[in-house]
Amino acid sequence: MRKKLVAANWKMHKITAEARSFLETLKLELGEETDVEVLLAPPFTLLPLCSQMVGESAAIKLGAQNMHPAKAGAFTGEISAQMLRDLFVRYVIVGHSERRAIFGESDQFVGEKVRAAHEASLRPILCVGETLAHREGSQHESVIDRQLTAGLEGVDAKHIPDTVVAYEPVWAIGTGHNATPAQAQEMHAHIRAVITRLYDAAHADRVRIQYGGSVKPENAEELMRQPDIDGALVGGASLEARSFAAIIAAAREARG
Ligand code: PGA
Repeated sequence: MRKKLVAANWKMHKITAEARSFLETLKLELGEETDVEVLLAPPFTLLPLCSQMVGESAAIKLGAQNMHPAKAGAFTGEISAQMLRDLFVRYVIVGHSERRAIFGESDQFVGEKVRAAHEASLRPILCVGETLAHREGSQHESVIDRQLTAGLEGVDAKHIPDTVVAYEPVWAIGTGHNATPAQAQEMHAHIRAVITRLYDAAHADRVRIQYGGSVKPENAEELMRQPDIDGALVGGASLEARSFAAIIAAAREARG
């Protein structure tokens, strides 16, 4: 049984006071419930504060939105896996479609990040997803295959259970138009089949595959009820503590 993972991707939003009030509210809403894994991925600048506020609580874990694959060096403006570990970060989002489209990150560079994250004992959340043009041209599966194959290249089978995949169709991100539960389930099953081909069924069965793209309290439960949808990566609807808490509650309901 895969534990559902609900993650907040704040992107480039929030300053200290906003993060503090969000966490105060979220901690009250959640209590010490740990039946769903909850992850907060704030901007780098807020990681120290969030780390301090989350403290020893097992209920909320911390993730970063990006990292550089090198251990250290002349990479102005970049952050390494070790720097994240130093702030008690457990997960790192890699290959988000905004990184790929706006910052030109290649499939190979994303793969380097996945390997570097594992080497540093950080769990990568490997984002994959097709554009509307890909889907309309019936290329959605081949695009996902390419992104997954490159993203997992050289990843030892022992790290596969600690790898999370996020299926985020680009056309659903920030648009208000989520994939239907059936469309998402179909792609999640496809992703699991690709991982089975690259490793084997036992490993693929342990990988959590999150859905992302216009997840909100109203659609979260039905999406997460699908057999291969193991959680959600939430952008816009994670910026408000009560709305994020409602999505976590939906994940709890979806466990059945
Ligand atoms: P959204 O973003 O929930 O605002 O669509 C999701 C994401 O980009 O991770």
